Amino acid sequence: MLPHRWRELRDAGPVRYDEAQGVWQVLDHETVATVLADPATYSSDLSALTPTQADFETFRQGNFVGMDPPEHRKLRTLVSQAFTPRVVQGLAPRIEAVCVRLLDAVADRDRFDLVDALAYPLPIIVIAELLGIPAEEHRLFQEWASVLFGGDQLGEAPDMADLERALEAIAPTVREMNGYMLDHIRHRRAHPGTDLTSRLIAAEVDGVRLTDQEMVGFVALLLVAGHITTTALLGNAVVTFDRHPGTDAALRADPAGIPAAVEEVLRWLPPFPELGRRVARPVVLGRHELPADTLLMVHLGAANRDPSHFDAPDVFDVGRHPNPHLTFGHGIHFCFGAPLARLEARIALQLLHKRFRTLTVPSYEDIAFQNPAVIIGVRRLPVEVSRP
Ligand code: HEM
Repeated sequence: MLPHRWRELRDAGPVRYDEAQGVWQVLDHETVATVLADPATYSSDLSALTPTQADFETFRQGNFVGMDPPEHRKLRTLVSQAFTPRVVQGLAPRIEAVCVRLLDAVADRDRFDLVDALAYPLPIIVIAELLGIPAEEHRLFQEWASVLFGGDQLGEAPDMADLERALEAIAPTVREMNGYMLDHIRHRRAHPGTDLTSRLIAAEVDGVRLTDQEMVGFVALLLVAGHITTTALLGNAVVTFDRHPGTDAALRADPAGIPAAVEEVLRWLPPFPELGRRVARPVVLGRHELPADTLLMVHLGAANRDPSHFDAPDVFDVGRHPNPHLTFGHGIHFCFGAPLARLEARIALQLLHKRFRTLTVPSYEDIAFQNPAVIIGVRRLPVEVSRP
């Protein structure tokens, strides 16, 4: 759903039934937070409501975003041992080096596609490096991520048949990635290093360790949850700054304002605008009686424009404080990679400011967007730059 509809929807009330899509929508900040904070009533396990595909099942095992407690807690705790805030902070010099290398490749150009040049490859290279994948094989990760993400095959209002077709289409990629990652894990078991794969192998809580298949599922989750979202964040930042004249100049004058500006971009255009939840037991929500197995679409985009939580919610304000946006979710599934996404965005934006005296979007007609049913973000963003 597109941003201009969020306000209209939110004004329609906190909870409503959407006839066209046949789903219930949760739209205000308070009810969205309530739903996300109560996994016993609102389950993340949608497998009973969505099509299955045999190959894709192999990824379900470590894919804890689709699990409820206690399985979710077990996996998230194990993975947290390996992917600590210190590990993320330690990535800063590598993230900067990757940004420098990517921008060097367009050093002789005044116009280039920011997505191709930086926003798309950066997060995928960071995830691949984190896992200890050799540089010459990063290309495979790019290919898998673009297929796995799968938004291309879906229309703007996908139904179950569309989802089934999309899963069928990605099955060969799932098999290839599964095989590759299992080999990589076996190799790391025999030759441990300091990368995330080796840390995941070593992680242990109360004598429990991750199985190989759970690790592969987690890597697939990283690719789906951590790649295109970060690409979207970078692109959304550049477009939104361009659309709000003065923003770029203000941030160049005061780089300390970049973290707050990133938060405002996250509020303004949440890459995942909607999350799915399944009603696990009959419940009354917003005065509506909902039976078990009702599918809810939880609208982070609409909640982020709720006037009871944000002053002037339809104004883009890089100095906004506080900024309790729900773009990274809320509760037990709160985005595991939020510190990494924030770090990548800050480093990339700072470097863009350092490299280019000006960076503008010359024509909005040339921007191509992702499928808004899946993600709010650009897929092509031609920019024009001038150098100091
Ligand atoms: C979960 C958004 C970047 C890994 C989530 C959730 C949201 C989200 C909304 C909650 C899903 C739910 O409750 O159903 C975003 C956005 C990002 C981003 C907007 C970038 C701007 C990343 C990155 C990584 C990552 C960089 C890792 C490299 C995860 C994981 C989960 C998750 C593993 C599952 C957490 C759980 O279920 O406990 N993300 N994400 N994300 N994200 Fe992110």
